Amino acid sequence: MCGIVAYTGAQEAYPILLRGLKRVEYRGYDSCGVALPHSERVQVYKDLGAVDTLKGTPDGIQGNTGIAHTRWATVGEPSQANAHPHSDCTRRIAIVHNGDIDNFLDLKQELQDQGHSFSSQTDSEVIAHLIEREYDGDLKAAVTKATARLEGSYAIAVVAAGFPGVVVMRKDSPLVLGLGNGENLAASDAPALLERTKRVVYLEDGDLAVLRPESVELWRNGAQVELTVQEVAWNVTELDRAGYPHFMLKEIHEQPRVIRDTLAGRISLTDPRATLPIAAHKAPSRVIFIGCGTSYHAALTGQYFFSQVSPLPVNAYVASEFDPAPGTLRDTWVVALSQSGETADTINAIRKARTAGAWTVAVTNVMSSSITRATDDVFYMQAGPEVSVAATKTFMAQLVAVYLLAMHLAPRSTALAELVGELRAMPSKVQRLINAESQIKALAAKLTRYDHMFLIARGINVPMALEGALKLKEVAYLHAEGFAAGELKHGPFALLGLNTPVIAMAPHDGQYPRMLTAIKEIKARGAPVTAIAFQDDTELERFVDDVLHIPVAHPLFAPWLNTVALQLLSYSIAELRGLPIDKPRHLAKSVTVF
Ligand code: G6P
Repeated sequence: MCGIVAYTGAQEAYPILLRGLKRVEYRGYDSCGVALPHSERVQVYKDLGAVDTLKGTPDGIQGNTGIAHTRWATVGEPSQANAHPHSDCTRRIAIVHNGDIDNFLDLKQELQDQGHSFSSQTDSEVIAHLIEREYDGDLKAAVTKATARLEGSYAIAVVAAGFPGVVVMRKDSPLVLGLGNGENLAASDAPALLERTKRVVYLEDGDLAVLRPESVELWRNGAQVELTVQEVAWNVTELDRAGYPHFMLKEIHEQPRVIRDTLAGRISLTDPRATLPIAAHKAPSRVIFIGCGTSYHAALTGQYFFSQVSPLPVNAYVASEFDPAPGTLRDTWVVALSQSGETADTINAIRKARTAGAWTVAVTNVMSSSITRATDDVFYMQAGPEVSVAATKTFMAQLVAVYLLAMHLAPRSTALAELVGELRAMPSKVQRLINAESQIKALAAKLTRYDHMFLIARGINVPMALEGALKLKEVAYLHAEGFAAGELKHGPFALLGLNTPVIAMAPHDGQYPRMLTAIKEIKARGAPVTAIAFQDDTELERFVDDVLHIPVAHPLFAPWLNTVALQLLSYSIAELRGLPIDKPRHLAKSVTVF
């Protein structure tokens, strides 16, 4: 993954680069660095740790052009030597790179044989040396020749001593240009540019751009092309914590608004079939949802919901495991869920889906992200920028999107009309649950002492057991496992005891009696049980240690409330444990590598 930023203009580059880096820090934060070109050398400052470590760099740094990087290690451990930028042998060139160079070992050997000496274990450093080999004063030509040797994915920014600008290029890793006033920028993602400009150009694969303070030139397939300028819809104020101690809490609290905005204009009481923001396309005979991590859990929820409202066959797949045979998906819609729109596994799965004959649609939160170019159509969620690494409000927006999709394809019925009413009621129900946060904090105080936890549910709530466990692992560093309740007795029972609390989602639905049986079986083995149940449930408290109440809802909407309860629980445990909630160790929000 990694985040890159480049600047060239009239201002001091260093503070601008650092502020930009903070906005892409969600992409990785094990080490970071900046390079500023001077007349004879490129000066590089880099260190282990997140971007704030660079604030301590000594005074006197000067330069109006520079590149910067925040890293999520792929090749080579996190260390100062492996941090970007990387330089050539002469220290006249420096590069930052996001992606993976598959043939770097061969290239490194070739370059070493020619006398180049390497300072890091990274794949990225070969790029600096390849450019060095080709450079005769024309940086654009050198980058073009050097990148022709690369196999893999890259978004790069390159500076050279004496050159008053930056050369950038992308292939299979995101890169966006920002057009300012007497200054121009580039970054992995638009939020890094927002403090300087809202006018952006999203680069295509193979694009190379030369940025100077007063001009931007773009080359595609060797020919110079016009810039297609777009305006970013997000505001820089949305990127602030707005008084919350963490972005995660802010984003959890934004969910009633996110549901409203994603629903806006899509449902009506006169026609229960939702309208979608995608072009009319031949109705499918089968639907497949794909995604990774949290997005896979939204995909799985889509599968459960779909099968309740529509007779169409529907499946959910982890994107990295999706491998249909060519030609086998004609008349199939493949719906790819990805909040970032950059997840390499998901984009790869889309390519396979298209080869298999499917019509593909992306559900994403990020304008012009790579996934939007890989699919036939796009359904933009309206979640606004999500900064915390752990997905919360974008997961909610994905749930809204998959429900709307199912309700678009479902046959008209009175049951469907009932669901429309519930969709409209969900923002206020989620708000009520958020307002009752204190019951969740109290539960967190009880559970924080445990090292292991199980979460169980049945039917459409099973994906919430998986997602709740993922949130507990991601932000609270608590080993949690989610299961279909019926499966617990087929093995995990061996682990139950006084120190393995179980959270059981038991909304009043057709599965309730069986959940009750499972809870009794767990209690009989000594494990503490917390139930998440509807507000009006008076039965469960006789069988469990604690009950966390959620507002009464249509059973198909219980997952929305269960997930908010578990987000808040994970957040509260992480807070009690004093963890870096918005930037958990080893993780990144956008995973652009395989
Ligand atoms: C990373 C993030 C997860 C996210 C997953 C898929 O692992 O840490 O929070 O669910 O990627 O990301 P996507 O952008 O495709 O939804």
